[in-house]
Amino acid sequence: MAEPWKIGMFQCAGLMGAWKLPENRSTELFELDHWIRMVRRCEDAGADFFFFADDYGYPVVGDGIPDTAVRGGVQFPKGDPTMILPALAAVTERIGLVTTLSTQVELPPMVARKMATLDHMTNGRVGWNIVTGAGQNASARLFGRPLTEHDARYEIADDHVDLSLKLWEGCWDEGALRVDRDAGVYADPDGVREIVHDGPHFRSRGVLAVPPGPQRTPMLFQAGASVPGRALAAKYAEAVFLAAEVPALKEQIADIRRRAAENGRDPRGIKCLIAGTFYVGETNEDAQRIRARQVATKTLDDAAASYAFFTGLDLSKMDPDKPLDPEAGLTQTGRTNVERFLGPNAPTVREILEEFQANSVMGAPYVGSPVEVVDEAQAVLDETDADGFLVQPDHTGTFDSFIDLVMPELRRRGLVADAVERTTLRERLTGSGSPHLAPEHPGAAYRRTTEPAREPAGV
Ligand SMILES: Cc1cc2nc3c(=O)[nH]c(=O)nc-3n(C[C@H](O)[C@H](O)[C@H](O)COP(=O)(O)O)c2cc1C
Repeated sequence: MAEPWKIGMFQCAGLMGAWKLPENRSTELFELDHWIRMVRRCEDAGADFFFFADDYGYPVVGDGIPDTAVRGGVQFPKGDPTMILPALAAVTERIGLVTTLSTQVELPPMVARKMATLDHMTNGRVGWNIVTGAGQNASARLFGRPLTEHDARYEIADDHVDLSLKLWEGCWDEGALRVDRDAGVYADPDGVREIVHDGPHFRSRGVLAVPPGPQRTPMLFQAGASVPGRALAAKYAEAVFLAAEVPALKEQIADIRRRAAENGRDPRGIKCLIAGTFYVGETNEDAQRIRARQVATKTLDDAAASYAFFTGLDLSKMDPDKPLDPEAGLTQTGRTNVERFLGPNAPTVREILEEFQANSVMGAPYVGSPVEVVDEAQAVLDETDADGFLVQPDHTGTFDSFIDLVMPELRRRGLVADAVERTTLRERLTGSGSPHLAPEHPGAAYRRTTEPAREPAGV
């Protein structure tokens, strides 16, 4: 029998593709109630986690943001998910809460402090999506910094995660937090220590001032499937987000699992989640109609702006009848969505635009009745060896159709659990039975052996 699906729900604190449809609610993005309603529905439906994608980018073409992006709401505007997450933590008890923080923007002590604090506030339900960052050309301009080259960004990311792990795992011994009012001991000084990090990109000597939350290190996710992205995932990630056509997904997942095994990690310990778009209706015709309505909201200019955001490349200036120049693969912005359109049988520029107009970065959608989409999606999981889906919002900008139509079908087939216990996100997704990183994870090496807290002298 098939394994239960791992299910995450994808959002960004921004406009969603089909915002022009009257029933789309993503224009409510700056209303807290919008998020609260949505996360509660996801929790009640039994989703494993709610994910906020994030970046500081937006499309940049030539010398700035194109009118199309501003007018058409393409990867623009966006709010800051870390400002929304605590409110979602307050109204939920079981669902995981995951967000992106870019290793190009936030320094490791900032990531470590925010995530450790959120781990407490969520009772161990927080996850960090490690990315070097989409929209890097825009983000570099905004921060007034030169654009760091693609592969160098991944070297920085590696050093960043290494230092963050030291801060989470190495500063506080288990049991060092005492809060003993009678003895006047808040924390045991012998159990709290400075870490020293002298890496190729970051230097640090200090203590993370936040004692460990239930997971200590937040559950680690990764997105960005270029070759160095996969190497980063295989080293550190406990879950990976992927989006591509089925043969490419199969190859990427096999590659990540193979690299994980080479690193001495359990290849199945990395949960591979496919970004899945579900157009679902009571009947196949309903679903096809919804899809057509959604696709019609996007122009080819919107598609070009969206492609520019992910890759830094302006398709509108290229010959529509030719494939991408192989040199495009050297773009210093994101590479995942360039590499997937190169090689034998490469599509033309026009076909890439049409693909982005229809499906954006997400690969082919699942379209049909609940039975049809679950059959098809299950076949993709079997074919690719993936563990589940990161579900894209539907044409309403919410997950209502997935929750109302797909979840009952999954439940009928035993592909989602009936009742969900309150656990940490790591336990829920990895099934490891421990809230902490697996012993073979590189972060575990920074842990100090547990020593019983000493009584202060004279007590
Ligand atoms: C489902 C999914 C979610 C993603 N979420 C983010 C995100 O929140 N922020 C981000 O900068 N990149 C995100 N990415 C990755 C970017 O699309 C992009 O590939 C990456 O940032 C650039 O790295 P690359 O050169 O390895 O592609 C996501 C990718 C997928 C498939």
